[in-house]
Order: sequence, then structure tokens, then C-alpha cells
Amino acid sequence: MKKILLAIAAFLMLSAGLGAQEVLCTRNTGIVLDATPGRVPKIDYYGVRPEEADLASLRSPWSNSAEAYPTHNASSENLEALAVRMPDGNLSADLRVVSVHREGWDGGEILTISCRDPKYPLEVDIKYKSYYGQDVIGTWTEIRWNGTRKSKVVLTRFDSGCLPIRRGDVWVSSFGGSWAGEMSLFCQPLGPGVRTVFNKDGIRNSQTSHAEVMISLDGKPQELSGRVIGAALCYPGNFELRFETGDSRYESVHRFYAGIDPSNSNYSLAAGETFVTPELVYSWSDEGLSGVSRNFHSWGRKYRLAHGGKVNDILLNSWEGVYFDINEEGMHRMMKDIADMGGELFVMDDGWFGGKYPRKDDHSSLGDWVVDRNKLPGGVGGLVEEARRDGIKFGIWIEPEMANTKSELYEAHPDWIINAPGRDIVQGRGGTQVVLDLSNPAVQDYVFGVFDGIMTANPDIAYIKWDANMSVPSQGSQYLGNQEHLYIEYHRGLAKVLDRIRAKYPDVAIQACASGGGRVNWGILPWFDEFWTSDNTDALQRVYIQWGTSYFFPAEAMAAHIGASPNHTTGREIPLKFRIDVAMSARLGMELQPSAMTQEERDKCRKAIGEYKEIRDIVQLGDLYRIVSPYDGKGLATMLYASPTKDRAVYFWYRTEYFHANTVPAARMAGLDPSRNYRVRELDREGRPLSFEGKLFSGRFLMENGLDIPSANTAPGPHRDFASHVLYLQAE
Ligand code: GLA
Repeated sequence: MKKILLAIAAFLMLSAGLGAQEVLCTRNTGIVLDATPGRVPKIDYYGVRPEEADLASLRSPWSNSAEAYPTHNASSENLEALAVRMPDGNLSADLRVVSVHREGWDGGEILTISCRDPKYPLEVDIKYKSYYGQDVIGTWTEIRWNGTRKSKVVLTRFDSGCLPIRRGDVWVSSFGGSWAGEMSLFCQPLGPGVRTVFNKDGIRNSQTSHAEVMISLDGKPQELSGRVIGAALCYPGNFELRFETGDSRYESVHRFYAGIDPSNSNYSLAAGETFVTPELVYSWSDEGLSGVSRNFHSWGRKYRLAHGGKVNDILLNSWEGVYFDINEEGMHRMMKDIADMGGELFVMDDGWFGGKYPRKDDHSSLGDWVVDRNKLPGGVGGLVEEARRDGIKFGIWIEPEMANTKSELYEAHPDWIINAPGRDIVQGRGGTQVVLDLSNPAVQDYVFGVFDGIMTANPDIAYIKWDANMSVPSQGSQYLGNQEHLYIEYHRGLAKVLDRIRAKYPDVAIQACASGGGRVNWGILPWFDEFWTSDNTDALQRVYIQWGTSYFFPAEAMAAHIGASPNHTTGREIPLKFRIDVAMSARLGMELQPSAMTQEERDKCRKAIGEYKEIRDIVQLGDLYRIVSPYDGKGLATMLYASPTKDRAVYFWYRTEYFHANTVPAARMAGLDPSRNYRVRELDREGRPLSFEGKLFSGRFLMENGLDIPSANTAPGPHRDFASHVLYLQAE
């Protein structure tokens, strides 16, 4: 009924000479567009779901409206979302609305605004897709060239979308970092000029900057209050996000653009061809940054992650325990150890393969995916069988997009690697690593074959860690004619391979790893169950890395492993309890040599793994409330996961630095039901019980007043530093 009324209203407006309004709503949000035939399409509004009275008033010319997909014609003083070179050299494009189409899908609706250039055979469908229950709106474009045979239009910029954001005290939270220091948070107010966030690695598109940003509309970003828009470009390759703010005070909006990075990557669109840009998704919430995170987590679990909504296994990975020193006896021992501590899966990392060139270190063998029988006489099959006997699952590491120049694969197919014509080969990790050219269908078959070969020989393998440790170097395809297409065709090729793998192996769990957290992006995750968050397992730095990562990615997918002390990356010594407590706040695992642990340490881990199993569904599938940020410099980080019905919750409290006689604020919670009572029990407890252990408190008290936690570590041992507590709250 409501829809019919809206349609009638739109018709009446049109006949009265007003703009044709299109509205797409989610449960709590809405976007309003002007899609009047013959005019440039505009976004009039995005934010809290408008009421009918608002809609009647919210129509062009509306003060804050801006082009939905700016081109270099209508808006020559602004940046473009679409830039072209027409066959005759004309650099302008003019998009006018031709028609509007709406269709339903299971989770909401898709709105298509079809536009065309009045002078050239260029057509663009601008798409908006509502994910109703998650308060997420996706947008992308489909660009078509209907020119004469053999004619081509060159796309020199082809963003997925553009969103106007009302000016005011707007702040942007973005993420950057490096190997072993991924997803650090940076917050800045948005001022005049252009602010760019980009990644040009070619493969590890989240190792440095990330394709996700939070835009806080009410001043400095707050976790639990204020209006925030989150945006994520779902693309695994090079990207560019741009914020444009004019100098003029009369300009009422910032413009946010996001898309594939076009540098060295112009796209020549042939007659009859359609270029589909990757989906850019937005979410709006008035419950602060955490509110947007919860929307992205539930959207990701429901629509993006492979097997989203299922809890992931507790595992031991061999990497930091033995590095390349793989042997059968050692693997057997590690499997027994993790089984004994209550784990569910063992993953054999790098170092298990190589024929003519056995993999001893990172200088050789990538590409030669045959088991090294000197190290593993019983083969992979023997290990899978041993894991079965231990009552756990088995997983294995591969890096199938890569080769070493010291490999049988490279000797047979030097033409399969990416290398600019006439240039020396750029070799990466170990001085001999190269990237295979996935634009080449023969390479696609080979990469599929690596996965397929391992799984066919060992159908009981339950988990694959898929790594990628190099950028696309000295750009050049030995297969493609048009070198500008390599970045795009690489990712199309990768998508084809992963589609084939998922069609044949829908159930196997796959972890996305790329030198640690280099593939944490919603464009790649649909084929994966989880990601390796960072090669840095230092629990203190992990508090920061996991905090940033949780802005857009759910704990279900965030692998967090207990590492050794001193830590292999930072050299820092951290008590086991703190290391456990940090790993428990995401998908718990271990990354060390259990045989180097004392019996007491193993017992602690066994107990913690048992307790994690009690709370795993809340952590991995619950609603996250980040409360005190480690980035705020208070020496503290706290957060809470609540079950969807708020009958159970887990609260994490980490002291990130300790100064004597410095008090910390009371441990206030969030996300609980104020009208229910919760009994508090500490998990992974060491030392004497806290004063509130086993007591009952109302949700209101826990949120308004909080509990008193001593500001120093009270556990036995030398450390006052690194206090941490995990509190389990159960409603009665
Ligand atoms: C990358 C990964 C690590 C490990 C090594 C193996 O660095 O991030 O976790 O798998 O490769 O070589």
C-alpha cells in the first residue's frame, strides 16, 4: 500500500513538473534520488529513514542534492566518478536519466536508474541495492558501449559510486599500516581539498590502506553515539577512495567517491561490452562507530563470508612453531598437543613441498606442489590419517598464485609470470618470488589444479590456508595484448578460479592470507571463511590491530592466535593470560610450539580453550560494542559481545599500559538489556577472584556505573603490566 502511495506521489510530482523521486529504504535508513527522465540523476538524501512527510518535501531542487554519478560535463569544477575518452577524442560524458526499474530480491530491493549520453552510444545503469535487515545499501554501475563494431570508448575513471555528505563537523576514520602492523586507525576532520585513500599493491590490497572508511557526522568519532556512515568498496585489487571538499563556504556537501584505481589501468570498452564496477556498500547508524560495525558484521555474515554464521574451529598453525622445519614426527607431535589441549584443527604451514627443489626456506619451490617425501615419508595422506586418529581435522598451506624462479614450474613456463616486456624480472620474497599471470586461462587452470590436486588426493582435508606474498611487480602480461587491462584481468581470472573451487569444494574452510592481513576486504572474502589478521601475534599490538579490523569485519572471520613469549616479531614478553585473553576476543587459535610450553602453560591453555567453547558463539556471532578505545591513550581497551537476545555477553578488559598509581575508570558496559540481571563470572581467571565474582547486577547498573577492576595485574608473577580480564555475563 505504502509503495502504491509513493508511486502515485512520484507520478503527481512529475506531472506537476517536479523531479521524479526514487526512494530505497532499509529498516532504519533510506536514500532518496531524483531520477527525472532527461535530467542528470541526483542523490537528494541519505540517512535516517525518511517519513512520508519528509519525502514530500525532500525533492529537487533540494539544497544538499548532488550528482549521483558525476561526469566531466555537468560538473567540470568537481572530480568525476566517470571519465571517458570517446572514439573521436571527446573527453566529456553527459548522463541523462532514461528510465527507472525496480525489482525485489530476497533481502530487499534493487533500483536501477538507466542513463545514456544524448550524443554518444554510452549507457550507464546506476544500481542501488538494499539489504533491508542489515541497514546496508550497495551501489555499483554497469557501463555499456553501444558503438559501431570495432569502435571503443576508453574509461579513464570508473568509480562504483559517489555519495554527497552534508558538511558540518565531519570526521573520517581510515586504516593504514604495513606488514605486521595492519589496520591501524587514523581519524581526521574533513577539510577543504581532496583526501585520498588508495592501494596499488595489485594483490595485497589491505596490507597498507584499506578500502573501508567510517564517516562520523557529529564531530570526533564516538564508539557508542553519533551518526556515522560506514563505506566499504568490495574489490580485491587496486582501489582509490576520494573525499572532495570545495573551498567555498556555499558548498553544502563533501563528496565521497570510491572505485577501482584507474592508474595504469584505463579500460577500453569494446562495442557491445558492459563493464560492471565492484559493489560499494554503505551503512548508516546513529549508534556510533560500533553501530555501523554491527551492521557490517551481520551483513558480512549473512551475505559475504563463505559459511558466515557458523562458528569456526580452534586450531594450531605450525608456522611460528617450526617455520620451514617440517617433518613427520614434529607434525605428529603438534597434532597430539593441540588435540590434548582441546583444539579441533591442525594446520601445516609452509615448508612441506618441493620435488627437484625442496622448500627449505623462501628462496625456492613455489609452484611445485608435490609433497617432499624426505620430510614427510607418509605424504599428506599420512598426516590426514594421523589427525583423524587424534580426533582433529587437518589443514594445509598453499600459495598457488605464485612461483619461485627456482622451481620446476618456472623452468617449464617462464611465460606464465607477470613481467613487463623487455624488463628484468622483479623478484620478491626470498629474492626469487614471482607472480603468475592469472589473466592467462592456462594459468587459471593451473592454479585451480593446485587446489583440486591436493583435495582430490586428500578429500578429508578440512581447511586450506591460501597465501599470497607479493605485489604485482613491473606490470606486464606476457598473455594480454592491452597491458592496461592486467590489474583488472588478474582479478577476473582469480575470481574465475575461486568460483570453480567453490563450485567443486563448497564445504572446505579456506583462510585468506596475504603476508598476514593483506587480503582483508569484502571483495575477496566471499570465497573465504576467515582471514589471517596479521603475522604479528604480539598480544599488545594485536589489541590495536584487532580493534581496527573489527570496524568492518566480524570476529568469526578474524583469526587471533596465541603466540610465544618473547614474541617473534616484537621481542616483547607478555604473560600467557594476556595473550590468551586477546586471542579469545576473536577466532581463537595457537601459533607456537606446544612442546616448548610448560605443563602449567598447557593446562592454562586447555582450560581457556574449554571456556572459549562456552562463549565462542557470542564472540564469533554476537553483536559487538566497542567501549574504550586503545587509540584514546587511556592505557585501556574494553569491549563487549552480546548474544542476539542479550541473554549472554562477554566483556573484554585490557590494560595496554601500566603506570603506578594511575587509576582507570570503572568498567562500564554497553549493549546489555537494562531491565535484566546478569551474573558475572570471570573466565581464564588467575589469582584471587575480583570483588564482584559470582554476583548479580542489573544491566542498567553495569552500563551506567560499571564494575571496579583493579588497574594493575594482580596475577602471580613479576608483571604489574598487562592486566586483562574476560567477564562472562549470564542473564537470570
Ligand atoms: C606469510 C604468512 C605467514 C606464513 C608464511 C609462510 O608470511 O603470512 O602466516 O604462512 O607466509 O611462508
